[in-house]
Amino acid sequence: MTTQADSDRPAQAHDEDELVRAATDAERADVRGMHAATRAAWDEAAERYEGWFDEAVELLRSGGSNLFGVEHDLIGDLRGRCRRAIHLQCAGGRDTLSLWNLGAEEVVGVDFSPRMLELAARLAEATGAPARWVLADVLDTPHDLDGTADLLYTGRGSLIWLQDLDAWAAVVVRLLAPTGRFVLFEGHPAEWLFDVGEDGRWVATDYDYFGGVEASRGWSPEYIDRLSIPDGAQSLKFARAWTLGEVITALLRAGLRLDAVAEHPVDWWGGHRDALPEEHGRIPLSFSIVGRLPG
Ligand SMILES: C[S@@+](CC[C@H](N)C(=O)[O-])C[C@H]1O[C@@H](n2cnc3c(N)ncnc32)[C@H](O)[C@@H]1O
Repeated sequence: MTTQADSDRPAQAHDEDELVRAATDAERADVRGMHAATRAAWDEAAERYEGWFDEAVELLRSGGSNLFGVEHDLIGDLRGRCRRAIHLQCAGGRDTLSLWNLGAEEVVGVDFSPRMLELAARLAEATGAPARWVLADVLDTPHDLDGTADLLYTGRGSLIWLQDLDAWAAVVVRLLAPTGRFVLFEGHPAEWLFDVGEDGRWVATDYDYFGGVEASRGWSPEYIDRLSIPDGAQSLKFARAWTLGEVITALLRAGLRLDAVAEHPVDWWGGHRDALPEEHGRIPLSFSIVGRLPG
């Protein structure tokens, strides 16, 4: 199994001060309005994902996976024990189809960006993967999928875009099959507090850990970078670093049984490559959760 380092990277929105601001009270109160704006922004950003299509076809055709080793450890070998894997916020489908290569008989990807799902459909066609793509806000994932996920996988830059974590956790619980497993691998909220200084050592950012949602235009150069639409003309998007407490509490409140919560130094979007070797591994840059339905 080959593994390819991922390029899914969070919006380090606070890098570009003039394009970042706190969301207004009116914006914060309108979850669906924030999601609609973010959807337009992601549809624009799909342009960047289209650039890796050929590489993704090659990787998947060779039986490879775009997931990290830590994710393989969490997910395990799916052969013979996963009829359906559902991937929430699947983007262009590269990670979703990696689950097929890990042994899922069928994969389902849910995302609200039409352009991302067009790319995912092309990828499935090129690789012959048995995949279904569902165009929906993750909060509105269709009910015909309820109770069918032997594996429910999500992460790598997903939660920050969601503005109602309780509603998301309820979706997680309703999609899981009675014996299904939930696996999340995500960027760590503490990552927003640290940057790499010119000397290669960690420095504190001015990000407010408890500040909530930010509105921004434009993308960090290490992530999506420049698009054909100038930064200032791009759609506004809304992101927030949910704390670990908020994520875990939402899942517990929804009724999930948690088997494991872990923090990892894995630089999941390569945004901290400039750190000196001795600085790596000191700070949690990602975290994972594994859970299932009780009983
Ligand atoms: C960083 S990408 C996730 C990348 C993913 N890990 C992968 O396989 O490449 C974030 C994705 O979440 C999607 N997204 C954001 N908010 C969403 C929502 N409320 N409902 C559905 N999809 C959403 C975006 O369209 C985008 O494709």
